[in-house]
Order: sequence, then C-alpha cells, then structure tokens
Amino acid sequence: MSEEAINYPVPDAAMKGAHVSGMPAYLKLVAEADVDLGAYWARLAREFVSWKTPFTQSLDESGAPFFKWFEDGTLNASYNCLDRHVERGRGDKVAILFEADDGQVSRVTYSDLLARTCRLANALKARGVKKGDRVVIYMSMSVEGVVAMQACARIGATHSVVFGGFSAQSLRDRIAGAGAVMVITADEQLRGGKQLPLKAIVEEAMTLGGCESIKDVIVYRRTGGQIAWDASRDRWMHEETEKQGDTCEPEWVGAEHPLFLLYTSGSTGKPKGVQHSTGGYLVQAAVSTTWTFDLRDEDVFWCTADIGWVTGHTYITYGPLAIGATQVVFEGVPTYPDAGRFWKMIQDHKVSVFYTAPTAIRSLIKAAEASEAVHPRSYDLTSLRILGSVGEPINPAAWEWYHQHVGGGRCPIVDTFWQTETGGHMITPLPGATPLVPGSCTLPFPGIAAAVVDETGNDVPHGQGGLLVVKKPWPGMIRNIWGDPERFKVSYFPPELKGYYLAGDGSIRDAKTGYFTITGRIDDVLNVSGHRMGTMEIESALVSCTALVAEAAVVGRPDETTGETICAFIVLKGPRPTGDEARKIATELRNWVAKEIGPIAKPKDIRFGDNLPKTRSGKIMRRLLRSIAKDEAITQDTSTLENPAVLEQLMERN
Ligand code: PRX
Repeated sequence: MSEEAINYPVPDAAMKGAHVSGMPAYLKLVAEADVDLGAYWARLAREFVSWKTPFTQSLDESGAPFFKWFEDGTLNASYNCLDRHVERGRGDKVAILFEADDGQVSRVTYSDLLARTCRLANALKARGVKKGDRVVIYMSMSVEGVVAMQACARIGATHSVVFGGFSAQSLRDRIAGAGAVMVITADEQLRGGKQLPLKAIVEEAMTLGGCESIKDVIVYRRTGGQIAWDASRDRWMHEETEKQGDTCEPEWVGAEHPLFLLYTSGSTGKPKGVQHSTGGYLVQAAVSTTWTFDLRDEDVFWCTADIGWVTGHTYITYGPLAIGATQVVFEGVPTYPDAGRFWKMIQDHKVSVFYTAPTAIRSLIKAAEASEAVHPRSYDLTSLRILGSVGEPINPAAWEWYHQHVGGGRCPIVDTFWQTETGGHMITPLPGATPLVPGSCTLPFPGIAAAVVDETGNDVPHGQGGLLVVKKPWPGMIRNIWGDPERFKVSYFPPELKGYYLAGDGSIRDAKTGYFTITGRIDDVLNVSGHRMGTMEIESALVSCTALVAEAAVVGRPDETTGETICAFIVLKGPRPTGDEARKIATELRNWVAKEIGPIAKPKDIRFGDNLPKTRSGKIMRRLLRSIAKDEAITQDTSTLENPAVLEQLMERN
C-alpha cells in the first residue's frame, strides 16, 4: 500500500492489545482463509460458538448457490447468547443497559436476561408455538424486543421482525408471506415523547385478510394506553410469563435451521424474506462483533440501530450477546429531548464503542452547528475508543467531523459495508489493523472474497468501477428467499457472473491501495436515511391509489442529510393539477404511501405531468427523471422522446 494515500494510520493505542493487531495480523487471517476457506471458518466456528453436537463438515457446496455451513452440527442461538455466559460465572455481568425515551435507565444482567427469555419461551410453548413455526415481532426498541427474539431462537421458532414504522398493509404482507402463527407486539411505542400505536396497527393488519394463520397476539404493556382487545386472540405478555418458570431447555437445532426471516426491498416486486441460518449466521455475528469493534470485556458497546433492521439483529440481539458484551439499548430518538441525546448517553453510560448511521451523524452536525449546547464538545466523550458507521456511504466531511468532534481525533472509525443478505460485515476496517481513508470502507473482512467485476464476472482493474461481488460463500450469507428459491438464484447468483454473489452495489477499488469505495446501488433500490426502499414498491403503492393515479415513476434524489430522498413523478387520471390543488393531492398521495408501506416511504417531492417522458418504444426514461429531480440542466438527448413538452411540467415543484 502506498503511504501517501493513507490519511489515518492506525493509532498505537488502537493497535495495542487488539484482537487483530496490525496489518500483518490481518493479512495472516486473509491468507489462512485463502488456503482453506472451510478450515478457516471451522476454526472460528469452534472458537466463537458452543455446539451441542460438533459439526464434521464445514462448507458444503454441492447444492450451490444453496450453500450449507456446519450442517451436521447442532446448537442453540439463545444458549450461546445467554446460558453459556451464566455457566461461566458471568451471570451478574450487565448484558443490557436500557435507556427509555424519558431517560429512565434499567440494567439487565445475563442471568436476568436468561430468566426473562426462558419465561417467554415457556409462554410461547404453552401457546403451542413449535420448532419451525414463524413468529412475527412488531415491537419498539425494548429489552422485551430482544427477549422476544431470543425466546423464539430458544424454542427453534423462526422470527420475522417487522420494523415498527411499517404500516398495517406491510405488516399483513409479512405475516401472510411467512405464514406466521403469532405476533408479539406492544400496546404502544414511546419515541421522542410521543406515544405511537403498535397494537392498533396489528389489529388493522388482521382485518386486511391473509392473517388467518395467527393464533395469538402477545402484547407487551409499554405505555398502558387505550387499545382494542380481542379476548379470543390477545394476551398480555406479563400475564403469560408470570405463570412460567424461568428455566427452559433450549431446542437444539441443526446449523442450517432458519433462525430468522427479515424482509427487505429489492428492485422488483414485493419485499423479499431473507432467510438466515442459525449456525453460520451466529459464527459471523460473533466473529465480526469481536473483530470489527475490537470488543473487550470491559467495553460498553452501543449500536443505535432498531431491531427492526438487520443491524439490530446482528449487532444488538445476536453478536454482542453471543460474546458476552455489555451494551446500551435505547428506546428513543437522537433528537429528543434535544440533539445532544446521543452525546449525553455516551457520557452517562461511558460508552466505549459507538455504532451509528451517517444520516444520524449528518443531522446531528447541523444541530451542533446551530447550538453549542448540543455540540459533542459540550459533553465528556473521553470513554469512546472506537466509532462505527453503517447503512449508507459516509461522505468524507461527515467522517472528518465524526472523527474530530465525537472521537476526539483518537478513535478509529469503522465504516462497515454489508447488507441484510450478508448477515454480517463484508468490507470494513479492523480498528487495530487497517489505516483509514474517509469515505472508503477499506478492505474485506478476513474470509470474505469481495471483488469488483464487469458484467461478465471478470475482474476490473483497480481504479475502474464495476459490480461488487463476493466470489466465495461465507457462513452468515442469506440461505434463501423465503418461499421463492428461484428469485433467490436470479437475484443473487445471476448466471453471467460465474456463480458469484451479486451485492447490487457498484464499487471501485483505489488504484494504489486496493481500498473499496461503494458507489451506490446499481439497481432501482433507494437508500433513504439508511433505509432500503425499492422504487417499484413505491410505484406500486402509488398506482394502487386507483381513484387518482394513472401512472407513477419514482427515483432517488441525492440529499445532504438523508443520503437520498424519494421523488415521485405522477400522471393523474384527471387533469394535471397546479398550485394549491397540486399540493393538496401531493399530501393525499404521501398519506396513501404511508398507509400502504409506512411513513418511511413517503415521497418528499411529488411532481405532476400530463405524461411521463418515454422513448418511442414506451420505456420511461428514468435517467432523465433523475436529472429533473436534481433540478439539473438536461444534457441527455431528448430527441427520441415522444412527448418532450412534459419535461417542463415535471420540473415544476409543488
Ligand atoms: O447500498 C448498500 C448500503 O445499504 C445496502 C444494504 O442495505 P440493508 O440491507 O438495509 O442493510 C443496511 C445495514 C447493513 C447496501 O447494498 N450500505 C450499507 N452499508 C454501507 C452501504 N453503502 C456504503 N457504505 C456502507 N458502509
């Protein structure tokens, strides 16, 4: 690696005592995986995970791309996350430092968490939930949310967590898609001082049809707010768990047993249920939590993600608990009661490793620049040792601010690239080994065969952009799309790419260092505040408003704070509206999308035209729409456009 391209060498303090200390140690791991990938991961699987029955084979490629890892081994994820720490005499260690929206703090030890998990697991069994059943969890950030996931894992039920910001319709689709037997929810959630409905949305989902498989709805009482109650189906969590004992023999499952489904957006059709395994996933979660965050026994880790997303699965519920760490779980939002909340919590809980999203950082920069009181320098952040970033590209300016003002110039930033499908980190610095370049996620995690190739799967030279692929399987990888193996093959292992895993992102490697930079999605997937949204999904939601909408096209527009925003171009059934009328209909359509998908999918910008720009063969010219959304001068050739006059209409903002 050339010296001049590296902006931030590894600080001595970060290298000292690190799990992976120094570049030679990183390269040694990479070489070990190169020599024998199966043996490398098998070694880690034995070191990091406790098996009931040891596996005899590591990687099975015979059914590629349906790869299997550690298949004849048996284990239980919740045993690994809870019991084994208690058995090793660490039951009194704090597992979760929970801070509620209103600032109340509670501490849950590993022994407590085990007992709570067992009680709920027993309650689920008493309600008839069995190994292999699917359970939907629609919860806010809470200890109970983590317990619900662990309880499912304990009895071999496959959980499918649905983010609390999704609508009744989305919830219904996920319940129906998974054929779930139970929903675990809360009466309401508390965020930013507001009580927001959860149970009421479950109720609404149930009326939409397709949820007949649900036998019970278990409700955690969070706020005590008024909710509708169906005595034939609804049960209070505290009443169900009170009756239960606090031990529960774990259900030992095969390594390939599906631990969870997590729905995520693709470029076409409805969201897909990404299916993860138990053994391989847990190995990846435990190893990456340890190495990427260099987590040590005395650390206080805080991942600000929601358990509704994959980051909350791997780096809250499974990774940190699997390795017996202490972590903060936060119910609220970064801006309540003010935008100093994150910094105050780091100070109060002496957080040493902090993991958040660039959108949060960018919005907190704005707030800090406006008010000294919420600037990180107004807080004592000296407990911090390592910072992390996830979910979207972090622009160098935000990186530098994070480094200087949050990390005091001394904390390495791990910019972790990965996806719902990958289960764990794919390309990321290791804080004690990798020199940093702002804006680059640097080098592959040891054992991950990431590469940049052209459309036929051939490597492109460094310095040239291409498709990001992973050439060899890894333990935490997606196993299937629930109920749709064909879509799994087509989406992730297209035949022209030589059997490589296609991430769906573009990437470029630095000519000198080989460092990876992610250049954004190559498909019609948007990333809004680190949330993944399919443009087609939003388009279908819009055209399902059949009373108003004739045609819709959705594109992303770069945004300084949220990365991208959603911009929708609409042709109405009636005449094209202008002025107040246009604004009124735009609001109606936004609310419609919120109802169909969830508030996170609301288009920020809605424009109306008599038509959409199309080629003579009738294809919507999305590239052109992207330029219009950005208010750019049109440089594309519009001579093939059937209806050039609509461009001016679509340039008009509402
Ligand atoms: O486009 C990449 C972006 O987020 C996508 C994955 O989204 P999701 O499955 O929701 O998982 C998010 C949390 C892991 C990727 O295809 N992405 C994620 N991390 C980064 C990123 N883009 C750039 N840099 C990152 N560190």
